[in-house]
Amino acid sequence: MPGLFNPLQLGSIELPNRIFMAPLTRARAGREGVPNELMARYYAQRASAGLIISEATGISREGLGWPDAPGLWNDAQVDGWKLVTEAVHAAGGRIVAQLWHMGRVVHPDLGGRQPLSSSATTAPDFAHTYEGKKPYVEARAATQADIDRILDDYARAARNAIAAGFDGVQVHGANGYLVDQFLRDSANLRDDDYGGAIENRIRFARRVLEAVGGAVGMDKVGIRFSPNIYSQGVEDSDPIPLYAEVAKMLEELEVPWIELREPAKPTAAGAIPTAPVSPAMRPHYSGRIIINSDYDWTDARARIADGHADAVSIGRLFIANPDLVKRLATNAPLNPGDPHTFYSGGAEGYTDYPALTEQEAA
Ligand SMILES: Cc1cc2nc3c(=O)[nH]c(=O)nc-3n(C[C@H](O)[C@H](O)[C@H](O)COP(=O)(O)O)c2cc1C
Repeated sequence: MPGLFNPLQLGSIELPNRIFMAPLTRARAGREGVPNELMARYYAQRASAGLIISEATGISREGLGWPDAPGLWNDAQVDGWKLVTEAVHAAGGRIVAQLWHMGRVVHPDLGGRQPLSSSATTAPDFAHTYEGKKPYVEARAATQADIDRILDDYARAARNAIAAGFDGVQVHGANGYLVDQFLRDSANLRDDDYGGAIENRIRFARRVLEAVGGAVGMDKVGIRFSPNIYSQGVEDSDPIPLYAEVAKMLEELEVPWIELREPAKPTAAGAIPTAPVSPAMRPHYSGRIIINSDYDWTDARARIADGHADAVSIGRLFIANPDLVKRLATNAPLNPGDPHTFYSGGAEGYTDYPALTEQEAA
């Protein structure tokens, strides 16, 4: 029976354990989205994770709408990420880059133009901008020329990620961002090859995976979905058949791993998800399944032991516990996290969470 501390192979990446660090936006890269020494220290502190999935990273200026989040579209960003990947590797870890296009939730103050989405819709709630929160603006429906350009941006970002020393990439297909805006029917109102029937709505994700896999090799590619939660106005009226088709597509493309933000019970944020969708994906997909969201260790161990999943990724506990894997192995107490410093910038609440002392770890 596999357990959390057993090794795992994800395509070309060999991992020593099955406790991953989930992607976590921390907004420390400055206005130009260039990673720095502080970020290198933060990630290196967490190198004992089986795999670090980086914070969401913009593939282009027009696709990045989070203040101070990093990018991967220019040489300065590649050089900045080299600091991070070298520090993680020197500390014995492995790291993949999460590739991000935010679609309709990019405010023009950050993206520099009207946002794009599958359809002309407006996201609910408010955008974070450098001048505080502002209402979202209506997106423009992407034309075929826009889609072709965005696919090129994905491919360039993937190549840049490998040039920056990442071990692979993860396409961000979750949480109401662009890939998700094509997948799920509350946001995709198109009636062309990219909308309507399920086979059309999954086409954009397919093209992105083909572009990224073509650029760096599919053995270095994973993708994240959030099949059973409402995210930024994006949800689906019938998720089981949609994600069963997604699973078949992933099998056909030989995508080696997927990560599902799939709460199994009401989340800490109070959202009540529908039932997990991964049991409907598993029969069609032979790759690795990583589960995420509000898992406690008993649940996570059980789902790995019974074959529903191969690994678990942990978000908030990794923010507050750089040595989370050791704490788990030794049943040590966990530091509480401070949500006020999640996106606040600087070292506080970022690189100053204590690791266990040698005595505590003994
Ligand atoms: C501060 C913060 C930043 C996040 N940033 C990202 C992100 O960049 N990309 C992403 O896919 N999910 C992001 N998430 C979601 C987490 O990856 C994860 O799904 C969520 O925290 C639930 O897992 P947990 O219960 O282990 O924390 C973020 C969550 C938090 C709390």
